[in-house]
Amino acid sequence: MTTPENPNPIAVTAVNRGLPAGKMPELRMMPSPSDANVYGDVFGGWIMSQVDIAGSLPATRRANGRVATIAVNSFLFKNPVFVGDLLSFYADIVKIGNTSITVNVEVYAERNRLQADTVKVTEAVLTYVATDSNRKPRKVPPIETLMHS
Ligand SMILES: CC(C)(COP(=O)(O)OP(=O)(O)OC[C@H]1O[C@@H](n2cnc3c(N)ncnc32)[C@H](O)[C@@H]1OP(=O)(O)O)[C@@H](O)C(=O)NCCC(=O)NCCS
Repeated sequence: MTTPENPNPIAVTAVNRGLPAGKMPELRMMPSPSDANVYGDVFGGWIMSQVDIAGSLPATRRANGRVATIAVNSFLFKNPVFVGDLLSFYADIVKIGNTSITVNVEVYAERNRLQADTVKVTEAVLTYVATDSNRKPRKVPPIETLMHS
């Protein structure tokens, strides 16, 4: 409904969702009842699994091929996740080594999408290793080779 405080509700809903501005999530997921305990709280292991997938996506692009998760350096469940939350997973590469790529992942939950009630629920840092077809570490390719491939 249009009001003096909210003259364009559709635009407000689109812009003020509380999600990071100007960034695209790697993944958007909605947990279902089978991902939660009997109280409707989503299992930490389910969230960790999605975070691992989200973090692997920029790592795989940067490695230009397969990667394996070698370490979960940190993991913080700052707020609970509930069945029906719409989760957005943002992943940014924070360090590139010889064979490794470290990624920061942040997860936001839109709890009540019509009211744009958004909270950051999880943050984590994971390290991936670029691997060859024998599952052995390989060098992360120089960025120039990616731009021309
Ligand atoms: C990934 C794998 C191929 C790497 O082989 P490896 O011989 O252990 O690798 P290395 O010791 O040479 O280390 C590779 C890179 O990881 C980094 N690394 C090793 N241990 C680390 C740790 N605890 N935290 C962060 N980075 C670490 C190293 O510094 C190195 O990075 P760099 O080349 O950029 O300097 C091997 O460990 C593996 O197969 N692990 C299982 C992967 C897996 O199945 N993951 C899914 C979860 S079950």
